[in-house]
Amino acid sequence: MSSTKVVRSELPWWKCTTVYQIYPRSFSDQTGDGIGDLPGIIDRLDYVKWLGMETIWFSPFFESPQADFGYDISDHFGVAPEYGSLEDCRRLIDEIHARGMKVVLDMVLNHTSDQHPWFLESRSARHNSYRDFYIWRDGRKPYGAAPPNNWRSMLGGSGWHYDAQTDQWYWASFLPFQPDLNYRNPRVKRAMLDMVRHWLHEGADGLRLDIFNAIYKDAAFADNPRSFRAVPSEDNPGGFFQRALHTQNHPDTFAFARELRAVVDEFDDPSRFIVGEVFGASDLLREYCGPSGDGLNLVFLFKSLRTPFRARAFHNLVDEFESAFPEPLHPTYVFGNHDRPRQMERLGNDLARARLLATFQMTVRGVPFIYYGDELGLSHHEMPRDSARDPLAERFRFIPKFMLPTLRRRGILTNRDECRSPMPWHGGEHAGFAPPDAPKTWLPLHPQSAVMNVAAQREDPNSVLTSYRRMLQLRGRSLALSAGDLELLDPPANPNKVFAYRRLYEDADRQETAEIFLNFSKREMPIDLRHLPGSAEARLYSNLRDAPVAAKGRHVLRPWEGVVVLRD
Ligand code: NOJ
Repeated sequence: MSSTKVVRSELPWWKCTTVYQIYPRSFSDQTGDGIGDLPGIIDRLDYVKWLGMETIWFSPFFESPQADFGYDISDHFGVAPEYGSLEDCRRLIDEIHARGMKVVLDMVLNHTSDQHPWFLESRSARHNSYRDFYIWRDGRKPYGAAPPNNWRSMLGGSGWHYDAQTDQWYWASFLPFQPDLNYRNPRVKRAMLDMVRHWLHEGADGLRLDIFNAIYKDAAFADNPRSFRAVPSEDNPGGFFQRALHTQNHPDTFAFARELRAVVDEFDDPSRFIVGEVFGASDLLREYCGPSGDGLNLVFLFKSLRTPFRARAFHNLVDEFESAFPEPLHPTYVFGNHDRPRQMERLGNDLARARLLATFQMTVRGVPFIYYGDELGLSHHEMPRDSARDPLAERFRFIPKFMLPTLRRRGILTNRDECRSPMPWHGGEHAGFAPPDAPKTWLPLHPQSAVMNVAAQREDPNSVLTSYRRMLQLRGRSLALSAGDLELLDPPANPNKVFAYRRLYEDADRQETAEIFLNFSKREMPIDLRHLPGSAEARLYSNLRDAPVAAKGRHVLRPWEGVVVLRD
């Protein structure tokens, strides 16, 4: 068993929390324009609380031309009018706090919209005082007609964009209308850090950092080395036939993680945290947390998005994350977000598997991030490319349709509308997402909305929603599950089918242990509980059962059943 004994009172709250991600445009529309908004979200906060989630992360709702739906910010201090006002934002933060929950805001530090006043100034003249807020270079000689170097954007193709007005090229790591800020300019860094302070003052408990690994690029603009890799993977963010050596995970970005952390730590009552959207192998991502845990508090670990739903694969995943993120570091578990295929796709649209995944995610050591709608088991929603709202759909139009399912299985979504359909609240008009008299919703309703909605699943003891809630409630009241160490167990039955681990919490006054057994198969699997120390008083909670039973003797795990044996 691991030797570190974890004491929850010493653990910061964000290590023990659970995070629910809301995509504001798609969650709840109160004003009736078919677009989700902040007042609509406030109306639904009781649901999030009822579910048992402790923290809510919002994708950006700041002012933006919405070319990338808020990830292209034109004013970091204002709220986009379609989502509400600053007053709504303050009320949202207050209402969340009043319910004992925490708020995470999305900080897009890497770039702005090309409509941001800084960029409008910057592109207007070479000698403008904002010119150096962005990254401008001459084209390659002799005529400057080629981009400054071979760097590709994260989406493939050159990330350099020619601007005729000043006859130079600007750099954008993502889409052309999202020019990268130049963090080598101290004015930029100061302005962005002050913006971060502003939102922490406004009450944000945590910040999610958009494509944080792209913040610094090579100062000498050296070419990236070539590679044979066409498609980026979770372990290797390069792709498009080059290594992203000079454009991603630059050493200066790791140093900046610590600078940013120092700013966040200026706010300590209550303590705050930052979670980075970064890409690379676990060992590299760990470096973002700093040599002594003084960098990013958490990083997203997207490897889970490509892990086959099998006992052995999950065992290996946890093993890898545990060795890369031992205390005081902490892993994260992510199975979907606003960029990725719905998790049900990888689960073969099997609701029983979804209930098991909920059990795993809520009982493993790490912060679980749950994307709105995944708690209902919403499946992939195929949408036509022709009418897509997501700018990536146009960008990836050249990819033949037959390849899309394969890409989805690898965690890549080329039309992100497909995971952003309006939240289905009930089976009535607009699925309850918008008022009945709203003309239409910004994206089509999910075809399953009539049956796979909150109202229908709330009272159903076998629904995916009920399993999520059951496991969230259990985690919420168990120190072992929310704050304990983790030890992998030799599976008591077939190791290819059953995955097992123990969580142990211990402090001066108490000890609590939980053993978790997950049956990754469609067969019944017996497990013997007699060897467990103290099993006489243990209670067994199942993702398929409402009330606990005494954990004695043998238990036969039903297909896709997950159980937690708790002792305190
Ligand atoms: C990652 C975000 O999650 C995604 O939605 C966005 O389009 C890009 N970064 C650019 O900001």
